[in-house]
Amino acid sequence: MRGMQITSDHPSLLKIVDDLATHGWSQQTIFLPEALTLVLAAECRKRSDEGGLSPASVGRGSSQQVREAVRGDRIQWLEPGESEACDQYLGLMDSLRQALNQGLFLGLEDFESHFAFYPPGAFYRKHVDRFRDDDRRIVSSVLYLNPAWHPEHGGELRMYLKDGVEHDVQPVGGSLVVFLSSDIPHEVLPAHRDRLSLTGWYRRRGEGVF
Ligand code: OGA
Ligand code: MN
Repeated sequence: MRGMQITSDHPSLLKIVDDLATHGWSQQTIFLPEALTLVLAAECRKRSDEGGLSPASVGRGSSQQVREAVRGDRIQWLEPGESEACDQYLGLMDSLRQALNQGLFLGLEDFESHFAFYPPGAFYRKHVDRFRDDDRRIVSSVLYLNPAWHPEHGGELRMYLKDGVEHDVQPVGGSLVVFLSSDIPHEVLPAHRDRLSLTGWYRRRGEGVF
């Protein structure tokens, strides 16, 4: 991993800023180098095998609950300093945070992110990422970790864009989707094989927390 060129001059960053400003979302099919994608996929599987992932919940605070009829993935939140690969990912996503702030004046303060593992048949019903009672999530990101994903595997991210347009994203390893958290309803369709990703949210500072 050492010496891999992932820096703030990553060629996709300005394109993502531009796409978000124009359309509210962006898809980059070649975002992460294959070597780093493979290491992150292996780390996700290892965490899963070791029992580190937990059933994901929906809602917040007192209404937070696990509902497999809504979402069936298993997740684990990232902390800085857990592995070199995760830190490279977090570093790259922080470069994107800075690019978004410089280009769009979004005032994004931090980035929260978790591994997500959808076993075959698992899905996440249509939803919007911003919580009703917490508007700190501004921009959502999903980085896919699945080598050799084919359309017949299913597992698309279906995005509901303006004017009734639907856009399906194949969860192909190394590709990234970014979108405005409050604007774009989306769902994860069931897949025929394990579906791995790193999902994250850029957040604004909360009211009254500072
Ligand atoms: C989510 C989500 C999309 C995906 O975790 O909120 O919508 O493609 N994930 O994994
Ligand atoms: Mn979502």
